[in-house]
Amino acid sequence: MAPSTAAATATTALAVGAAAGLALVLARLLRRPAGRQQDEEALSALLAAYREQLIPGADRLGRLNDDFRLQIAEGLVTDPPVDGKRMLMLPTYVTRMPDGTEQGGCYALDLGGTNFRVMRVRLGDGKGHVHTCEVDEVSLPKEVYTGSGNDLFDFLATTLKRFIDRHEPPSDDAAGAAPGEAPPRPPASLPVLGFCFSFAIKQTALDSGVLLDWTKGFTCSGVVGHDPVALLSQALQRVGRPCRVAALLNDTVGVLAAQRYLDSDTQVGVIIGTGTNACYVEKLGYLAKWTPPCTAPAAANPAASSPSTSSSGRGWTAESATAINMEWGAFSSLHLPLCPEDAALDAASANPGKYLFEKLLSGMFLGEAARRILATVAQQLPGLFACGRNGGGGSGVAAGLTTSGSLTSATLSAVVEDRSLGLRTTRQLLQRELGVAHPSLQAARAARDVCTMVAQRSAELVAMALLAILEHTGWSREAVPSRVTVAFDGGVYERFGAYRRMLDEALRRQLGPRAERLMPHLRLVLTHDGSCFGAAVLAAAAVHGQ
Ligand code: BGC
Repeated sequence: MAPSTAAATATTALAVGAAAGLALVLARLLRRPAGRQQDEEALSALLAAYREQLIPGADRLGRLNDDFRLQIAEGLVTDPPVDGKRMLMLPTYVTRMPDGTEQGGCYALDLGGTNFRVMRVRLGDGKGHVHTCEVDEVSLPKEVYTGSGNDLFDFLATTLKRFIDRHEPPSDDAAGAAPGEAPPRPPASLPVLGFCFSFAIKQTALDSGVLLDWTKGFTCSGVVGHDPVALLSQALQRVGRPCRVAALLNDTVGVLAAQRYLDSDTQVGVIIGTGTNACYVEKLGYLAKWTPPCTAPAAANPAASSPSTSSSGRGWTAESATAINMEWGAFSSLHLPLCPEDAALDAASANPGKYLFEKLLSGMFLGEAARRILATVAQQLPGLFACGRNGGGGSGVAAGLTTSGSLTSATLSAVVEDRSLGLRTTRQLLQRELGVAHPSLQAARAARDVCTMVAQRSAELVAMALLAILEHTGWSREAVPSRVTVAFDGGVYERFGAYRRMLDEALRRQLGPRAERLMPHLRLVLTHDGSCFGAAVLAAAAVHGQ
């Protein structure tokens, strides 16, 4: 079976195999007479079985790395089917990366997940200098991100209008306009906007593209197959605050651009937040499927830092480069480390069968995967996570453990990082968030082990994917490795310190003896609010030039 075809059956095959293994362990254990000692043994055997399934060893990681690089190579040649089962490797047309000399002021709108941000930035007064930067964060109600596309874009436009009005009060000439309609203004005087739209978009130019599919629980109608820039522009017209949307980009590209503004070694942008994804800078010579945008590049070589000489007459050469939005959340392989609970989580998601890698990695799913595993543990070991009946210690499984979404990734990180005496914090969380009555130390330890395994699996897979990218670009084979910065953003990376340490350890372990030579040249940095800031910088660069 070809690896890409094999990917399609990965979930089912693994889940069935894993379920059978787990059932055997349980059957053997549950045949024994009950008792505290047996419960302890059963629990540790059960946790060991999960560890075996969730934490990939060197062999499995090697196969995953091979499949990952194969999907990169295939995706650079042709457009893969948009089935959520392989990386899309989308060219972004961001061919001119910031270098810190960009100037001017503009706005950014960043729709990344169930929260979105609006930002106003003024750049200039020196290389890499940011004069002012103000941000507002707004939460999207569920009925908006699962409703109609029009409602979604109206909501975004209304929020943006309020934000812009605060900074640039509408001028008097608006007084004569019909309600909801702005008087026509010359395009040059419209507020400039960078639009970070963190979903899979097939771009046709820097400022246009079509949405290929929703992820992260979004299901708004009438948007897939349409241009988010057109939809936003129409909504901004409707609310009477037209803007000039100068750049459309994925959040990974925003993070890459934002860090590149400060540090020219930045080659990769990664998001580990509600969703997950990466982009990297690729030479056009390796991007067989690339077609130039309608307009020729403003300056000869773009994303690559050295100037190019035109060989095509349009300014593009094999050495020119562009940022590739990989959509790595859609990576799939027969070798993914899955347990039966992953299949159940996938089936209950808004996009079943798609973006499996994202479901193993990202903040939207980490807590839920742990909850599902703990629910199985609770069913197998009645009494461990019991609910209280009338304040007493009843034997039924605590309701929170059987309720989707009750264990958030923020709770998961608090459990993993719990250093309190007797795991007091974890016991309180089990009681408060999941309704477990009088959680024992044994229950708290089990919860910590499960949460840690789920987080570690994510970190191992991010490390595998990152190293596969760096192998693909040739960096890890360089005799004298150049400096590479990987810019990260997203709540999991930013707020989960133990996760960052797990990622660092996973990288070293996976590199093995090469770690000593390579790790000093690899810098992982948090680019806080990078996606939003990157959108503003790219829009400023597009409009004001350098
Ligand atoms: C989207 C990507 C995005 C990532 C991180 C995924 O669900 O498909 O486009 O970059 O989330 O926000």
